[in-house]
Amino acid sequence: MGNSRIFAALFAGATLAVFSQSVVAQAAAPAPGNAEAGKAKIAMCIGCHGVEGYRTAYPDVYHVPKIYGQQQAYIVKSLQAYKTGERSHPSMRGIARGLTDADMADLAAYYGGAQK
Ligand code: HEC
Repeated sequence: MGNSRIFAALFAGATLAVFSQSVVAQAAAPAPGNAEAGKAKIAMCIGCHGVEGYRTAYPDVYHVPKIYGQQQAYIVKSLQAYKTGERSHPSMRGIARGLTDADMADLAAYYGGAQK
């Protein structure tokens, strides 16, 4: 009857609300990264961040911050800031643009997992 159709519509609406809430909750607390997966992704970072004394030799010697041992949350936040343009370093912006949230979490788990 008409009533059961209305009920079904309400039920679907409630399910949708719960679903979108859980998506928001996930965005607020991203799934923890996988350090093993991160290790497979550092090939594009070690050219700069894996350098003794944290300096690159090419194109010029300039300071590269130490990321090994940083807080995982800090690494993800920095990478996101480069991606959105909130931080403006050109090389890091180029790198971060190519990273997904999962890549960032994995990289952070790898680099950040080294603390202790
Ligand atoms: C071309 C050299 C280069 C490459 C490649 C590179 N980085 Fe960077 N990275 C830098 C430099 C230079 C900075 C400092 C930029 C600044 O002053 O904002 C930096 C900054 C960072 C920061 C912020 C550190 C802090 O203390 O605020 C993080 C996190 C980071 N890089 C992670 C990565 C990861 C992860 C990769 C690989 C996916 C990577 N970088 C690849 C040169 C590089």
